[in-house]
Amino acid sequence: MTVSLTSPDELLRLDGVGIRFGGLQAVDDLSFSVGQGQIVGLIGPNGAGKTTAFNMITGVYKPTEGRIIFDGRDITGWAPHRIARVGIFRTFQTIRLFYGQSVLVNVLAGLHLKTRQQWWQGLLRTPSQRQEETELRATVTELLARLQLDHLAYEDVASLPYGVQRRVELARALAARPKLLILDEPAAGLNDQESAALNRTILDVRDEGISVLLVEHDMNVVMNVTDSIVCINFGRKIAEGRPEQIRAHPEVIEAYLGKDEDEDAEQPQDTAARGGA
Ligand SMILES: Nc1ncnc2c1ncn2[C@@H]1O[C@H](COP(=O)(O)OP(=O)(O)O)[C@@H](O)[C@H]1O
Ligand SMILES: [Mg+2]
Repeated sequence: MTVSLTSPDELLRLDGVGIRFGGLQAVDDLSFSVGQGQIVGLIGPNGAGKTTAFNMITGVYKPTEGRIIFDGRDITGWAPHRIARVGIFRTFQTIRLFYGQSVLVNVLAGLHLKTRQQWWQGLLRTPSQRQEETELRATVTELLARLQLDHLAYEDVASLPYGVQRRVELARALAARPKLLILDEPAAGLNDQESAALNRTILDVRDEGISVLLVEHDMNVVMNVTDSIVCINFGRKIAEGRPEQIRAHPEVIEAYLGKDEDEDAEQPQDTAARGGA
């Protein structure tokens, strides 16, 4: 009999996770979970440890404390490719694409991570391989259309505007058919229209049963799409709850607004206007 490490509706759980870089405790005793088909926001000021938390979940960094459970498995300290294989895919705070390559090639790169084929099947071209190829092609065609990239399939990603490059990154992560999609500031640099489209895409993705973990400073995105929010400051969780609870939470407001922030982007854009709503 196998012992389930997660409750039935729980997909990801962090249990007392921490990491130290030299003298800096970048993430400290962080615990939270993401349910099946849930959208969870991770917020906090610049340097709070959000990207570091993502890097531990995706295997870029190995936690020095705690454990990370995904889909019933303890994935703590696993290598990134192994974590990808069990269904966690991400986008990056700073866009990482293959420049000099087309949109199509970039999206196919995501797909490639998930294909079941071994290299030798390419030589034999088995019926199962042909079947898989047909399915993969259909997935890519559908994804490109959905993210309004179909007319740009053969364009070099380097020639595309920033907001479009963000959509290519998202398409690449979705091509891998994740169980959990991790997005690090996906709305950064997007205009209002692009950010509204992103909201819809995130909700669509969730409706397909993919769970989403999101770091985002754009409060319009965070408040409108998430089911729950975890707020961290100096690596520690200071609040957790539904968007309306977080918006009114004194420590959250203090962490964002109470100190001198040199970057406007670090401040919620509508906390005051929407307070108490
Ligand atoms: N590889 C690293 N080595 C040393 N310090 C790091 C490393 N990665 C992140 N940090 C530090 O950890 C803290 C949290 O950073 P980060 O997770 O990027 O914050 P956020 O994404 O919330 O803005 C910062 O003080 C940052 O300088
Ligand atoms: Mg970050």
